[in-house]
Amino acid sequence: MAYTISGFSKLSKQEKIDWLGQTYLQNSPSAVQTLQNYWHADSKLQKLHDEFTENTLSNFYLPFGIAPNFRVNGKNLAIPMAVEESSVIAAAGKAAKFWNAHGGFKAEVLGTTKIGHVHFSYSGDPEKLKRFFEETKPKLMASVSEIIRNMEKRGGGVLDIELKDKTGKLANYYQLLCSFETKDAMGANFINTCLEQFGTTLEKEAQASKCFSGEEKNLQVIMSILSNYVPDCHVRAEVSCPVEDLGNNEDGHIFAEKFLQAIRIAEVEPSRAVTHNKGIMNGIDAVVLATGNDFRAVEAGIHAFAAKDGRYTSLTHAEIKEGIFHFWIEIPIALGTVGGLTSLHPLAQVALEILQKPSAKELMEIAAVAGLAQNFAAVHSLITTGIQKGHMKMHLMNILNQQHTTSEEKSLIIEHFKTHTITHSAVIDVLQKIRNAE
Ligand code: MEV
Repeated sequence: MAYTISGFSKLSKQEKIDWLGQTYLQNSPSAVQTLQNYWHADSKLQKLHDEFTENTLSNFYLPFGIAPNFRVNGKNLAIPMAVEESSVIAAAGKAAKFWNAHGGFKAEVLGTTKIGHVHFSYSGDPEKLKRFFEETKPKLMASVSEIIRNMEKRGGGVLDIELKDKTGKLANYYQLLCSFETKDAMGANFINTCLEQFGTTLEKEAQASKCFSGEEKNLQVIMSILSNYVPDCHVRAEVSCPVEDLGNNEDGHIFAEKFLQAIRIAEVEPSRAVTHNKGIMNGIDAVVLATGNDFRAVEAGIHAFAAKDGRYTSLTHAEIKEGIFHFWIEIPIALGTVGGLTSLHPLAQVALEILQKPSAKELMEIAAVAGLAQNFAAVHSLITTGIQKGHMKMHLMNILNQQHTTSEEKSLIIEHFKTHTITHSAVIDVLQKIRNAE
């Protein structure tokens, strides 16, 4: 059996599936059928999805839902979320409703500057390199004039190019640190195209420059790429209310103190911070995905930010000041509302319509709010009922669906577990009893 195949990408979709069936799925004939069952009935829509990436065989669906009742900077919103995990959307909706009645969420974009680097090696005199850079900077800028024309019309472009000496970290290592404004586009393609041009121009100009002698001309570009760490493209979201509003009388104070302690634990204990931040990302990723943005880039950047001071810590913070409970998040996040998948994926378009066609800045605010809401709901559950109660209720539905239960069986089992603890084996036992009695 040939497990190595050349020219696979050139095969038709059917040929690819046939090869897969013969090579890896001989013992699961229904798997091929399942791949086909997930094709879209509308062939034009399917073709669109096929062309998002390479070697597409089928579609992998995620639930697309909304969390209603959000109030962000005075605007009422239903937030679209693409996420498979039970309880996430319910939790967001619950937090949204609570804060809607307590002043809503306030969010503010603190900066929109994105960055990228031309990483290069140079072994000559650093002073000569500095002179060469100052001389060449206008040429670097000029070399991208065509690439940036449209972006400039929209108010964006290249903000600056700086030379950075990184030889303290690695011998012969220098960077061009380039900053960009990309307005409503996430801008990855734009930034990378500019950076590659800067790299080409840098090497070419080094060869021609009189600043360098002989060996020193061997300035070598290693790579040119954006950074998904965007500490200057960042947003803050917050909620606040009198401590009493968090519960009846004394309860509000007890809740607030326990909540603060839970946040402090996530601030000082990295093991807890990871789970705490995972819950925050439940909300952020779901919005990022639903709007066709790149959740891997967002994840990588946000976790780097959480570890920026040398220890991984909480992304959210809380305090009580003069009887007011404050809870906030600050995150770096680069999102787009035009271009890329945001413009191509019909459901991403719907998500943006639901959000009333936000600018990239507004989407940054919404994502931060979703993360803060998610964290509020998670910590609220953790310090009161625990999360399993709500979670297992949703999980029960998943188990029942896995077991192909009839609607009659479902009703009986849901009724039973209103007064019993849900575990996978308990659900199976009850289902067996019902089926045996039939
Ligand atoms: C589960 O997906 C997320 C939580 O674990 C988050 C947290 O512990 O804060 C509930």
